Amino acid sequence: MAFDYSTVFRPGLPPAAARWSGFPKYNFVGGHNDGAAVPVQDFIDAAAAVLNREGSTLATHSLESGSQGYLPLREFLAEYLNKSTGMTDTADDILLVSGSLQALDLVNDVLLSDGDTVVLEEAAYQGAIQRFNRLGVRGIGAPLDDGGIRMDTLSNILDDLKKDGIKPKYLYAVPTVQNPTGTVMSEERRLEFLNLARKFDVPIFEDDCYADLTFDGSRPRAIRALDDDGRVIFCGTFSKTIAPALRVGYLVAEWDILSRMLAVKRDGGSGALEQMVLGEYCPDHFEDHVTKLRGVLKGKCDAMMETLAAEFGTTAEVEAPVGGIFVWVTLPDSVDTMKLFEIASAEGVAINPGAEWVVDPATGTHKMRLCFGNPTVEEIREGVTKLAEICHREFGVPERGSNIER
Ligand SMILES: Cc1ncc(COP(=O)(O)O)c(C=O)c1O
Repeated sequence: MAFDYSTVFRPGLPPAAARWSGFPKYNFVGGHNDGAAVPVQDFIDAAAAVLNREGSTLATHSLESGSQGYLPLREFLAEYLNKSTGMTDTADDILLVSGSLQALDLVNDVLLSDGDTVVLEEAAYQGAIQRFNRLGVRGIGAPLDDGGIRMDTLSNILDDLKKDGIKPKYLYAVPTVQNPTGTVMSEERRLEFLNLARKFDVPIFEDDCYADLTFDGSRPRAIRALDDDGRVIFCGTFSKTIAPALRVGYLVAEWDILSRMLAVKRDGGSGALEQMVLGEYCPDHFEDHVTKLRGVLKGKCDAMMETLAAEFGTTAEVEAPVGGIFVWVTLPDSVDTMKLFEIASAEGVAINPGAEWVVDPATGTHKMRLCFGNPTVEEIREGVTKLAEICHREFGVPERGSNIER
């Protein structure tokens, strides 16, 4: 008889994970990237060069770079972020982490307790929402428009909380290519956001995960770059620009809080080989790589938008994203996207049901997120066509032959 672990599990564990059973044929979920765009040969060359030169430093936990991570990579990031975001931080202000998910965990670990309140976008990154739920933290969704969080309603939310004697622990936002809506907050609004944060004396957690992937390559300055009192904690990642399996992300913040996050990062350091390869590869190749990747993703986004228009017609409301790897689709109220997700999954089409990407699940029941980073253009066309067929069969929309723009 096998040992019964259920007798010893601590209370409050999340449900058990399912075993992996392979990717669906049409995979419109997850932050996967374009396989052909991974710079394999350059990585092989970078790995050989850096290991030949300094491979023996793997013998120490911190690669002779200190516990904040491989110094050449932090130096590259400081310079690159200065150029791309306007931030003036140095390598000393950066902590390399195991993907930006670990950045979220570290920020939460040092700031949040059960019963705390956080304000975030009403439609938001599922990984952030789940974390708040698990920690017993109340997430309040701030309404969005096509420029990200609306500052008038955010101001009202913060006012109401203040009247109730509640100060949120932080304001979480993905201001550059918002997940899931794909919008960008203007610099003017970023300044308003900072002013509100100052007025209510709360920090901002700026998740800049997709910021390098605007299709035209332009972006406003980071909120952290506009901040002169150190209230913005910034995180980024190589998951979206290069590959999610690398698990290399970064936090940029004042030493007062960075040092506390370093103290709760109890993993003995994030994977060193990845950091070394990136540190070697990035200075000469990163920008060219990202420029090419933007073109590839734009092509896939166009295929997604065209196929949605052709197959769903006016039944699918979707704004073309400014960049990134996903679209946020609103279907008629009669379509239950959780049910659509279950049925479509069984038929090889994976989608993100909207209820999992909004703070108030009731507002997402007829929405869905479709990622286009990993499938080929052909798979996008076939998969979305199949999804429209399933949706028609199960929910009667899109109506066939009437409102479809063919
Ligand atoms: C907004 C946002 N933040 C963080 C992450 C986590 O990314 P990673 O841990 O791969 O860096 C994601 C991934 O999809 C995301 O969309």
